[in-house]
Amino acid sequence: MTLGILGSGSGSNMQAILDAIASGTLDARVALVLSDNPDAYILERARSHGIESGVIDCHGFRTKFPGDAQRETANRLKAAGVELVCLAGFMRMVKRPLLEAFPGRIINIHPALLPAFPGLEAWKQALDAGVPETGATVHYVDEGMDTGPVILQETVPVLHGDTTETLHARIQKVEHRIYPAAIRLIAARSAVR
Ligand code: GAR
Repeated sequence: MTLGILGSGSGSNMQAILDAIASGTLDARVALVLSDNPDAYILERARSHGIESGVIDCHGFRTKFPGDAQRETANRLKAAGVELVCLAGFMRMVKRPLLEAFPGRIINIHPALLPAFPGLEAWKQALDAGVPETGATVHYVDEGMDTGPVILQETVPVLHGDTTETLHARIQKVEHRIYPAAIRLIAARSAVR
């Protein structure tokens, strides 16, 4: 399965996907990495792995993903032969131009047990809410905010004395396991079709 990855930050989830591929536990290839943030470390990681990468120009908008930028992103992903688009810490909402180019083929990792705590800094939302456990979810992307069908999710305990950093780090350990596992599931389902 040929993957395209969109990310805005560190790219530790992309690294987990690359590690799973390298260790032979995930039969996939990352063909293209795109970021809306030219300084994102995810681009550095892509370059160091010899993976084609590029910047998505969002014309200075801070959170919006403009329609022409989405069409351009879709064209680049298609040109690279991408079959499944993985959002890995991509902090803009994907809308119709990109969703229609990859129907049912865009997935996301979210640091909470959806439908609880959609949106930004879900680990902080969980801490503020005082819940005993939260988690991580891989789901299909639709037009809503973290609302698409769940592929895999796993709980993570919130421990006494947790800070936003310690809780997010515990959630990320789980993310790094379930993201490659979710891609494996999708690849297996596609092979059966
Ligand atoms: C991850 O924890 C991911 O779940 C979260 O951003 C982090 C990116 O880390 N995504 C969201 O909050 C999206 N709503 P990474 O760049 O190291 O993979």
